[in-house]
Amino acid sequence: MYTHHSLLLTPGPTPVPNKIQHAMNLPMVGHRSSDFEAIAKLAFSGLKRVFGASHDVIILTSSGTSALEASMRNLINPDDHIVVIVSGAFGARFQQIAEAYSHHLHVFNVEWGESFNTEDVLTFIQSIDHPITAVFTQYCETSTSVLHPVAELGHSLKQFNPDIYYIVDGVSCIGAVDVDMERDQIDVLVAGSQKAMMLPPGLAFVAYNDRARTRFSQTNSPSFYLNLSKHLSSLEASTTPYTPNVPAFRGVVQYSQMIKEEGFQHVVKRHNVIRDALRKALKSLSLDLLVNDDAASPTVTAFVPKDHDELVYIKEQLAKTFNITIAGGQGKLKGHILRVGHMGFISPNDLLPFVSSLEMILSTYRNENYIGKGTKAFLEGIYHEL
Ligand SMILES: Cc1ncc(COP(=O)(O)O)c(C=O)c1O
Repeated sequence: MYTHHSLLLTPGPTPVPNKIQHAMNLPMVGHRSSDFEAIAKLAFSGLKRVFGASHDVIILTSSGTSALEASMRNLINPDDHIVVIVSGAFGARFQQIAEAYSHHLHVFNVEWGESFNTEDVLTFIQSIDHPITAVFTQYCETSTSVLHPVAELGHSLKQFNPDIYYIVDGVSCIGAVDVDMERDQIDVLVAGSQKAMMLPPGLAFVAYNDRARTRFSQTNSPSFYLNLSKHLSSLEASTTPYTPNVPAFRGVVQYSQMIKEEGFQHVVKRHNVIRDALRKALKSLSLDLLVNDDAASPTVTAFVPKDHDELVYIKEQLAKTFNITIAGGQGKLKGHILRVGHMGFISPNDLLPFVSSLEMILSTYRNENYIGKGTKAFLEGIYHEL
């Protein structure tokens, strides 16, 4: 091992800044107190900016999947027909949730590694011989590192039928993308704390528009902990229906403050600059990228080593020799790709040790000199964007 510092480059959980850790370490307060109400009020409203939401955002003390499930339970009646776009492991998660509740499910499959084609989704919906109540999709499909054109689909869907609910899972990109629920025609947008929002795992977020809010109180699918109307009533009183993760709420307040200080447009740009420079660096090391440039997520990048042995060697050497953790593939991409996360509390230079370590690892493994190639491409990528 050559480094004392570990570098966590998985697509979540991601590093948590000291400022957030300190905020979370402040003395505990009771959750039925005016102290907590003040924290909760700031937390709910502070999230509006990153979600592009016009209402305060619901915070659940549970992981991202709970927000996926909540969005389905609270918008869909048992006899409704829904479309789920499956382009990777997390689309499959939406599918599993729907199957667990025996919803009338129509799956639109997308090749893993590609983004959906809006016209094809529309054609699929038109071919279903039953009105569709809702469409569910990922924004960033973390398992493939694709960023879907969610705004384009939002417009097309609402033009086709303004009554359709459009639900977007932004777990792995909210906090890094320029989203506006009204502009992009999204009814419900969900996320989790442990990714681009640079908080520890364990909170889930649900942003909603007026239509969705009304619908929450009209559907009759059973739910208890995840009953969003209950969460909304509490939110209006600056509290939560059940015991919240009080320290993490403090973390959310600190996060919103940090985003405000940096400026959200700058946060978005920072992620885009890192993505583009990293893609150049990986290409310069003769590593294939799973996803085309026009569908590449600003938060995670999947690359394809030459073969399985090289893949294992890269991942192991990064961990053992350089103390750098990246992620492997999921589902049918397991053993075929590696994924490097670059979201949240990350600046361009933070990726340099990863790129330089890859140069050394590949030079040894392929017996070819890559020294300086990846870092040059990476630095040129960021230098021009400073
Ligand atoms: C796009 C997406 N959706 C949902 C989830 C599930 O979130 P959690 O593991 O916090 O339940 C993840 C987690 O990686 C994700 O990336």
